[in-house]
Amino acid sequence: MSAGTEGDTLCFFINGKKVTENHADPETMLLSFLREKLRLTGTKYGCGGGGCGACTVMVSRYQPATKTIIHYAVNACLLPICQLHGAAVTTVEGIGSTKTRIHPVQERIAKAHGSQCGFCTPGMVMSMYALLRNKPQPSMEDITQALAGNLCRCTGYRPIVDGCRTFCQEANCCQTNGGGDCCLDVKDETDEQDDEKPQLFNKDEFLPLDPTQELIFPPELILMAESSNLKTLTFYGERTSWVSPTSLDELVQLRSSNPKAPLVMGNTNIGPDMKFKGVLHPLIISPTRVLELFDVTQTAQGVWVGAGCSLSEVQSLLEKLAPQFPEEKTELFRALIRQLRNLGSQQIRNVASLGGNIMSAYPNSDLNPVLAAGNCKVSVVSNGGRREVHLNQDFFVSFGKTVLKPEEIIVSVFIPFTREGEFVSALRQAPRKEGAFATVTTGMRVFFSERSRVVQEVSIYYGGMGPTTVSAAKTCAAIVSKPWDDETLGRAYDVLLDELVLPPSAPGGKVEFRRSLTLSLLFKFNLEVLQKLREMNVIKDELPERIRPLPRDIQPSLQEYQHVSKDQSAQDPVGRPIMHRSAISQATGEAVYCDDIPRTDGELFMAVVTSSRAHAKITLDVSEALRLPGVVDVITAKDIPGKKVRTVFGYDEELLAESQVSCVGQMICAVVADTKAHAKRGAAAVKISYEDLPDPVFTAEDTIEKSSFFEPRRVIWRGNVTEAFKTVDQLHEGEIRMGGQEHFYMETQSMLVVPVGEETEFKAYVSTQWPTLTQDAIADTLNIPSNRVTCHVKRMGGAFGGKVTKTSILASITAVAALKTSRAVRFVLERGDDMLITGARHPVLGRYKVGFMMDGSIVAADIQYYTNAGNSIDESTLVVEKILLHMDNAYNIPNLHGRASACRTNLPSNTAFRGFGVPQSIMIVENMINDVAVLLGRPADQIREINMYKGPSVTHYKMEFSPENMLRCWDDCKVKSDFSARRKAVDQFNQQNRWKKRGIAIIPIKYGIAFAESFLNQAGALVHVYKDGSVLVTHGGTEMGQGIHTKMQQVASRELHIPTSKIYISETSTNTVPNTCPSAASFGTDANGMAVKNACMILYQRLEPIRQKNPKGSWESWINAAYFEKISLSATGFYRGPDLYMDWDKMEGQPYAYFTYATCCCEVELDCLTGDYRTVRTDIVVDIGRSVNPSVDIGQIEGAFMQGLGLYTLEELKFSPSGLLYTRGPSQYKIPAVCDVPLRFNVYLLPDSSNPHAIYSSKGIGEPIVFLGSTVFFAIKDAVAAARSDSGLVGPFSLDSPATPERACLACASPFTKKIPVSKPGSFKPWALNI
Ligand SMILES: Cc1cc2nc3c(=O)[nH]c(=O)nc-3n(C[C@H](O)[C@H](O)[C@H](O)COP(=O)(O)OP(=O)(O)OC[C@H]3O[C@@H](n4cnc5c(N)ncnc54)[C@H](O)[C@@H]3O)c2cc1C
Ligand code: FES
Ligand code: FES
Repeated sequence: MSAGTEGDTLCFFINGKKVTENHADPETMLLSFLREKLRLTGTKYGCGGGGCGACTVMVSRYQPATKTIIHYAVNACLLPICQLHGAAVTTVEGIGSTKTRIHPVQERIAKAHGSQCGFCTPGMVMSMYALLRNKPQPSMEDITQALAGNLCRCTGYRPIVDGCRTFCQEANCCQTNGGGDCCLDVKDETDEQDDEKPQLFNKDEFLPLDPTQELIFPPELILMAESSNLKTLTFYGERTSWVSPTSLDELVQLRSSNPKAPLVMGNTNIGPDMKFKGVLHPLIISPTRVLELFDVTQTAQGVWVGAGCSLSEVQSLLEKLAPQFPEEKTELFRALIRQLRNLGSQQIRNVASLGGNIMSAYPNSDLNPVLAAGNCKVSVVSNGGRREVHLNQDFFVSFGKTVLKPEEIIVSVFIPFTREGEFVSALRQAPRKEGAFATVTTGMRVFFSERSRVVQEVSIYYGGMGPTTVSAAKTCAAIVSKPWDDETLGRAYDVLLDELVLPPSAPGGKVEFRRSLTLSLLFKFNLEVLQKLREMNVIKDELPERIRPLPRDIQPSLQEYQHVSKDQSAQDPVGRPIMHRSAISQATGEAVYCDDIPRTDGELFMAVVTSSRAHAKITLDVSEALRLPGVVDVITAKDIPGKKVRTVFGYDEELLAESQVSCVGQMICAVVADTKAHAKRGAAAVKISYEDLPDPVFTAEDTIEKSSFFEPRRVIWRGNVTEAFKTVDQLHEGEIRMGGQEHFYMETQSMLVVPVGEETEFKAYVSTQWPTLTQDAIADTLNIPSNRVTCHVKRMGGAFGGKVTKTSILASITAVAALKTSRAVRFVLERGDDMLITGARHPVLGRYKVGFMMDGSIVAADIQYYTNAGNSIDESTLVVEKILLHMDNAYNIPNLHGRASACRTNLPSNTAFRGFGVPQSIMIVENMINDVAVLLGRPADQIREINMYKGPSVTHYKMEFSPENMLRCWDDCKVKSDFSARRKAVDQFNQQNRWKKRGIAIIPIKYGIAFAESFLNQAGALVHVYKDGSVLVTHGGTEMGQGIHTKMQQVASRELHIPTSKIYISETSTNTVPNTCPSAASFGTDANGMAVKNACMILYQRLEPIRQKNPKGSWESWINAAYFEKISLSATGFYRGPDLYMDWDKMEGQPYAYFTYATCCCEVELDCLTGDYRTVRTDIVVDIGRSVNPSVDIGQIEGAFMQGLGLYTLEELKFSPSGLLYTRGPSQYKIPAVCDVPLRFNVYLLPDSSNPHAIYSSKGIGEPIVFLGSTVFFAIKDAVAAARSDSGLVGPFSLDSPATPERACLACASPFTKKIPVSKPGSFKPWALNI
């Protein structure tokens, strides 16, 4: 079969419209088809690999056999269009629009403030929509399951869940009433008169859900499906052909003549391989129209399930069957259901097939260990005939390989009933509770001789312990024929330990953890079995603790803020919870992000070539790339007409490496081509030769040894630590390592540079926080004046500090390509490239020495910070400075000494990230305080309290401040969280439970707002009033989801005394407001708000004479009159900002305008056997003065907290020993998902607070709360301490951040973890570096 031949016509529907495609390319996924071909850009690209949900759409199909229509959510990024013949696709544009009618799901997510940057919103909407199509009144469990595969980096999920919750029958209830703790049973300690409290949204306003309004399924597709003359379909693409047979015989023939061609069902294995590993399949066979693969047949022994059934179908089938039989018969069914609920996401399960999962033979497949342990078998067919093959240890041969012959096809899978006395269990442990491949996963089955505890059969399989599913056959042999008791199990653990050995360098790392999990999961199985034997009256033993799953019901939460004063005019929006101004268009998919801008004529796409070595000389050969179809040019450093480097603090950073590279991921050249696919293929064809240079440096320890630092290093002190250390009761030294953090903005770095065509003028549309920097960088690079470049930013799909400096470099390279080719060039990074190239939050190693008295007062502390800057300095020196300026946090330590260095390593250069070093800095101090508390045997909150600033205070850099509101936040938080009573309850819980522990912590923060570099605090605005009275506001701030435009609209509305509906903000651009500062440092509203206010006041004043002449006139009449009286209706506003400074020689200054204060209390429940935990409750009290917009500010608080929770407990960047970032997508790098939301999540804005230093007495809030995510870390540490104490371990212990399940479990030092031999560091090459 050859490409280029005439193929069939592909026919499907999108949003009720028929799509026919005569040249369907099998390599085209639905996502690019929607976005590029149909210009339906509401569906977003976030990862391309099924891991983020941004591309979620709904697929509907008619099933002739049952005459029903099924609807299911899918990831458009993994769905080949060729798979869609006969299907109807609904995208976010198809369910509602601002031009017609918005859909209730769109409305509720938006109005509940569930859309900040909005990039995840269409995906969220579609997941929820698909759920509602199947279940108009879902339960909370249904909602959290439906949203489990959709990531949001901004909101923290709480408002999304609250918006969706309004569809529940018992809205606002956790629905566990009668079955445990129900929210309705909990009387909030602080609420007396709930009715009087202002609400963030009013659900009575919501449109009702009316299923009759939904799009009907196209009748034409029903006819198509009913027609009996189904024919084989064939599609030919540029490189790949696709054939879709209609009968099993035909499929068998195709497969036997093309044994290498994959059978593509859900494409969730083949798709990512093609996309990320560059695997090319010249022929793809699609068996989805072969009905035999979907047959389900029940027999007396069990059920045969068609191998083509999706995992969701398998789950529903088993859920339907299980209650129809006695429990003893359905042990295996229930174990599979349990596993299926946690496998992937709803979108993945809706397409991934049972046969595909088995044949993918992943090392950590969740189903295979259970199917194998459960004695399942497969029926396979080939032109050699049919046979049945058992899914046992002989079936799984190696990574991705099974015993089946290449031409064999699995037709169905037999899932047997279990017998009386037979128990099956499925257990898994994953880095994140949902949407994550397991670290270790198991299937275990035991069958007892009649009514005895003697084991007749046992089978145990593990995933995650080798290249494929492995059997613990020797362990089983040690158990079989023996009584199931402590002695047998004790022996079994020892055999298992010897049987499943992992070398210390095993791929995937976590060797000790994985080995200990094999034991602890077997122990869990043991507890389950004992419980069942007891229930059956087979044994009478006193049972050890029964381990229940971690709690998971998300309950309604509280958000408290101040009412605006009764005297405030109803039209004045300041202080009210106004919805994000673009939330509705974000929810309908109409909001335009950079890559949604339509293609311009002749536009090219760019892809970069990056280094695969950490330190080497390079030569490049681009000849082959230039020969490829569609490739137009290759851009190298030689093409840069202006500055080839960016110089910061005296260090040069090359835009494109010329002769030498200093990290993996460094950009070397860029390929421009007519399409994205061609650009990527061109980039892959560029040949780089490397000559390795010696001794790359990766870790903080390496840099200390080799003295590899960027200068200047910073030092600060007050008092005299050396002398003070001599006077203290006790001294202690400690160390904690904090990992970095990937920004994971949902919209990857995106830009489009368009040459205007005359006088070297360029328009740059860039997703950046700092348009002026981008403008200047492009001008410098092209060697043209800044007045030839305009930079435009409509909105960003998240940024978090990552779209400042790195974006300017990427935009500069794009501009070079635009200049060289004289064509518009678009550059949108793939998620993997974005993660590889653009750096992250700085990892920090903190070492401290602390001296304290027996009464708990800390007298002196000496702290050293090593921040891993990577291969270029970027903003690292400023990060280092901010670390030192926050090292005191809330504490008045009289003798304090801090030293901080930016370590120069051969890793990608790290950059700004929300908090800018503060989350790392304070973590180290708080850990130190925790150690002091442990050493003194006192609660940590007491030690914190003793050492807090009190009364008029001065920081270690001699800035005066009043900590009054900081202390109020602390006291309020203790009360609101009922801290003392809960502390006691936690201790009691811990006494009663051996394998589950609870922990609680309360942590304060004092966070400095504004830039210490004074010039960065200025801001400008431009306000035009048009003749019809409509107002256009522009200011220097950029919208990245933080709601700055909404707040600016509120400011303009108050100052001009007109409703916000008359005010529009279209974009941020350098030709309207020049020389802007970055939207960063939590200072955007403070600075730009004042500038907008200034411009509006000028305008309002100019209208004064007109108003006096006609005091009763309308706004429009005044504007009209002013125009005819030749009064300028345009004004610029300017804000100089505070004159802040920091003198590092004198170690003193006024680097901040003021402080934002907050306190957070968190409680967690930890499963000590697996390290899995759940945040049970979070209470945050924040002083943000008088909030300009409480819903926006609470959104910032919740989102930042969840980002902090990710930083301190979940997110791990893993580098290979040669400096390659392994974690380059959501499959490997886990940000918090909906399963991580605290079960109760209360936020209170401190009442009666004001701030004379910022607009309308508000305070900056974008960054501070990230650090409070560490409260979860310290609660975990508290729970771990309780577990250690059961093992007889007391005293401070080391727990690095993030406190992942791996670290928490190992720190618990259970009898199982203690059994694992630890390889001596240095005796082996670890799989990943500890940077
Ligand atoms: C984001 C994401 C998260 C995931 N999470 C998990 C998880 O937590 N746990 C887990 O276990 N898995 C997980 N998976 C893996 C997923 O379950 C498998 O990729 C899926 O089951 C494969 O089925 P498919 O139909 O998509 O296979 P495809 O990609 O269509 O095909 C896979 C392979 O199976 C072969 N094949 C398919 N059907 C047959 C058949 N009937 N006979 C013979 N060969 C056949 C094909 O030739 C091909 O080689 C995840 C995948 C993704 C993308
Ligand atoms: S883009 Fe499809 S799941 Fe991320
Ligand atoms: S609003 Fe969800 S990613 Fe920004």
